[in-house]
Amino acid sequence: MERIICFCKGVSESEIESAVSQGAKNLKDIQLATSAFTGNTCAELNPKGVCCSEDIIELLKLNNKLERNCCCGK
Ligand code: FES
Repeated sequence: MERIICFCKGVSESEIESAVSQGAKNLKDIQLATSAFTGNTCAELNPKGVCCSEDIIELLKLNNKLERNCCCGK
């Protein structure tokens, strides 16, 4: 069974991984590619009661693709 990462938008782990394999490197890229991390009913829909951002970041880390976008440029 498909693991859902973003419950607000119904985005699965494989959809996130597909976006990563096509070049997504940060949350913004994942948003644009999949619409994950664009909902506002996380507390109601996500069983964890929080936004999916940490799970997306974990997937980026697992794939060694995480690119941080800090305001200081580092
Ligand atoms: S769980 Fe992804 S935006 Fe709410």
